[in-house]
Amino acid sequence: MDKLSTIAAQLAEQGWALSEEFLSTAELLALAQEARRLWRQGDFKAAGIGRGSGFRIRPEIRGDSILWLEPDRLTPAQMKYWSEIEKLRRRLNQELFLGLREFEAHYAVYPPGACYRKHLDRFSTSDERAISCSLYLNFGWRQQDRGQLRLYPRQDDPEAVVEISPQAGTFVIFRSDTIYHEVLSPLKERFSLTGWFKRRSLSKALWPASRMS
Ligand code: OGA
Ligand code: MN
Repeated sequence: MDKLSTIAAQLAEQGWALSEEFLSTAELLALAQEARRLWRQGDFKAAGIGRGSGFRIRPEIRGDSILWLEPDRLTPAQMKYWSEIEKLRRRLNQELFLGLREFEAHYAVYPPGACYRKHLDRFSTSDERAISCSLYLNFGWRQQDRGQLRLYPRQDDPEAVVEISPQAGTFVIFRSDTIYHEVLSPLKERFSLTGWFKRRSLSKALWPASRMS
C-alpha cells in the first residue's frame, strides 16, 4: 500500500491516522521557513472561537494566531502541499466514498503558553467540515517542548487519549465530527499548517430553514 492508501485505511479503521512521509524534508523546510517569515512580518491574526456575529477572541480557550492560505494565490511551497492534499482528497473519496469537495487551510502559531482547549472542529451552524488535518513544521522539536495534540478517539472512553508531538513532517488526520481534541501549551513557538476537507452541507441542502440555527 502506498502512503495515501495507508492513511485512508487507518482513518477508516480508527477515525484518525498518522503519517511521517506526507511531504519531503525540502518541502517541509520551505513551508516552515515561509510560516516563520510571515509570522515575523506580522501577517498572522489572533484566532478566535465561533464565527460571524458569534466570533470572540478568548485566548484562555484558544491562543493561537493564524494566516489563511489563499487557493488562488498559493506560493510555490504551498502548491506542493496543496497538490498532495488534492491527491489525498481524491483517494479518500475513491476508497472511503467520503464525497469531499473542498479544502481550506491556515498556518497557525502557538506562542509559548498558548493552548486550544478540548473541542470538535465543527461550528454549530455548519456540518461542512468532515476531515481535519495538521502538518507540523517544527524541526528539532523535543518531547520536553510539549505542545502535543491530544486526541480523544473513543467516545466511550474519554481516558483513551493519543498524544502527538508537533515534530516537522508529522501529518495527522481525523474525523471532524466525532473526534474531540486539544492542543497542549508548548514551551516554544509551535508552527503548523492545519486544514479541513469539506463536503456539501446537509443542513443547507436539505433543510434550508435550519440555516439560522
Ligand atoms: C485546530 C486544531 C490542532 C493542532 O486548529 O482546530 O485543533 O495540532 N489544531 O494545531
Ligand atoms: Mn481543532
